[in-house]
Formats: sequence, structure tokens, C-alpha cells
Amino acid sequence: MTQRTAPHTFKLRRGRLTAHQAEGLERLGPVYGVPVTDKPLVLSELFGRAAPLVVEVGFGMGEATVAMALADPARDVLAVDVHSPGVGKLLRALESAQLSNVRVVEADALHVLRTMLDGVLLDEVRVYFPDPWPKARHAKRRLVSSSFCDLVAARLRPGGVLHVATDWEPYARLARGVLQAHPDFEVAVLDTRPAHRPLTRFEQRGHAAGRRSFDLLATRG
Ligand SMILES: C[S@@+](CC[C@H](N)C(=O)[O-])C[C@H]1O[C@@H](n2cnc3c(N)ncnc32)[C@H](O)[C@@H]1O
Repeated sequence: MTQRTAPHTFKLRRGRLTAHQAEGLERLGPVYGVPVTDKPLVLSELFGRAAPLVVEVGFGMGEATVAMALADPARDVLAVDVHSPGVGKLLRALESAQLSNVRVVEADALHVLRTMLDGVLLDEVRVYFPDPWPKARHAKRRLVSSSFCDLVAARLRPGGVLHVATDWEPYARLARGVLQAHPDFEVAVLDTRPAHRPLTRFEQRGHAAGRRSFDLLATRG
């Protein structure tokens, strides 16, 4: 049973799957999907090799996941989200791109990091555009918190990176404060969005609404 001391960082949405996404889930789940367990994963069995591992938390529709995995075949990616339509879409995209270095878990990333990746040393953790929870009374549902940073710091190898991107300025300020206060991280705030992080539709909508993106890179000491 997963221990939970904080409210969920996501809305429990009834995902409306398109027929395409549902077909993707059913046919490709056994190929690219990872069942949720209460035991640590055996990564060499999962990927069929030993390679540095990146975890992407909240991949949405998986646009960045696919583009970044294609550009970086030497590393494996474990992509985590709770939203079934996005999972179905990503599974189909992995098949189309013939990618073998991505696996997908439909679960709360906190459970995945805490339990399924217990004992693993990660190369990178990506949190791109976490749900902003703009209302003050919901701020405690934001994913990036000091306890999240403790968990990520415990899973990253020395020199490994936590990359947080957000277009919600109060969230960027909060994340920067939490990361800079953390004894295990050296934080860089980028002036411009890094070219290797693809522009997703979600980020484009933010730009269209007049928001800019903030990228924070926290390196584990
Ligand atoms: C605003 S969307 C951004 C999606 C994507 N990263 C992008 O840039 O287009 C945030 C995503 O994080 C997911 N999410 C939020 N909390 C999560 C958690 N604890 N574990 C896994 N996924 C989570 C949501 O389901 C949603 O798909």
C-alpha cells in the first residue's frame, strides 16, 4: 500500500480515451508499459540493457518524451503520468518512432520514485510544466516541494540533474527557492529555454497567453 502524507498533485480526471488511444493501451501496453508494483524494478530486464536512466514526471501527451528519446539513444527513459489518454497516445508514438529506449508507467510519480525506483541511481529527472495549481488554497498540491526534492536527491547520482520547467512565474519562484535551500543541489536558472527541450502544445498555449517559460537545472552534489 502506498503511503501518502500530502494531497495528490494531479486532478483525478476521468480520462476520455479516443478509440485510437484505447487501442494503443491494449495492444502496446504489454510492449512499452510497466505494471505498477510495490517492488523495485529490475531495469536491465525492463530495457534489455544497462544504460543511464532518465525519469520524466508528468509527460502529458509525450511530445517531449519522444523527441528527446530519439535524440538521445544512449539513455533510457521511464515516462510517468497518471492520465490514460496521454499514456495511450505515447504508446502509439513510441511504436511509430520505433523507439526501444522508453518505457511508460501509468502511476503517481511519487510512488514510482519512492518504491519502484528504490535503490536506483538516476541520471536525470525531468518535470516539465507540472500542474500549476494557481489558487493559493491549492498550492500545497504542487509537486515541487522540499519533500519532493529530498526524494529526487536520494534517487539522483552525484552530478545527476533535476530539470524543472514551468511557465507559471509564482511556481518558478517557489521551485527556485526550494531547490536553492536544498543542501544537495547546485541550481542554475537559465536565461532562455534550452534548445534540447522541445516545445510542447502545452507550453505553446502558455506562450500564446503571454507567459514565458522558466527552466531550472538543479545538479546533485
Ligand atoms: C500541465 S501537464 C504538462 C504535460 C507535459 N509535461 C507538457 O509539457 O506538455 C502536467 C502533467 O503532469 C501529470 N501529473 C501531475 N502530477 C503527477 C504525478 N504525481 N505523477 C505523474 N504525473 C503527474 C498530469 O497528469 C499532467 O499530464
